[in-house]
Amino acid sequence: MSGVFISFEGPDGAGKTTALNAVLPELQKRAKKEIVATREPGGSPIAEKIRDLILDVKNLEMDDRTEALLYAAQRRQHLIDIILPNLEADKIVISDRFVDSSIAYQGGGRQIGVDAVTSINDFAIEGTMPELTVYFDVPSEVGLDRIKSNRSGTEDRLEKEKIEFHQRVRDTYMKLQEQSPDRIQVINANQDTLQVAQDVLELIITKFPNLFN
Ligand code: TYD
Repeated sequence: MSGVFISFEGPDGAGKTTALNAVLPELQKRAKKEIVATREPGGSPIAEKIRDLILDVKNLEMDDRTEALLYAAQRRQHLIDIILPNLEADKIVISDRFVDSSIAYQGGGRQIGVDAVTSINDFAIEGTMPELTVYFDVPSEVGLDRIKSNRSGTEDRLEKEKIEFHQRVRDTYMKLQEQSPDRIQVINANQDTLQVAQDVLELIITKFPNLFN
């Protein structure tokens, strides 16, 4: 496979989607390959349907393991529909969230356990992992404050979780980063959006000098 797979990760309110939108035009201008931006949960029609099911605020009785399986299922479909075909077509695929989200949110946040969540995801992804994961780190209080002020009362089912949940998510991300320091590179997301975008651009271009002009 000749493309390059990059994921963006971080707790809610870390600003990764804003940063992705900010850096994409500049990255595309300088890249020697076409860039495809995608996201999870979702990214393809069937995966988007699973997304709606998972994030629906009405589904309060959803079991934690059901949730973990649905995330793994949407990931499988997204991989088959979008990620693998574009990597095979020699493109740069940037996914806003991938497998580390499940390990951090379901494994750590929901306390299902890192090993259990890793094993269902191993089944789903069959070894396809990002070459680079840009991890947006932000204290949980800052992330949650940003969500509240940005969206005024329209949080989804996961964003409604208490601060302790979000702290467990962040702790798990940091453990994953310690285990894979080459793949998972940290961005300080507790800065203004312009600075964060600049740091992300520099990080990606430095990691793949041959991919960009
Ligand atoms: P979304 O609105 O896409 O949020 P964000 O902009 O923060 O990515 O909602 C995604 C939510 O789903 C977010 O709270 C993280 C959560 N999530 C998981 O719990 N597990 C997963 O595997 C993925 C991909 C997302």
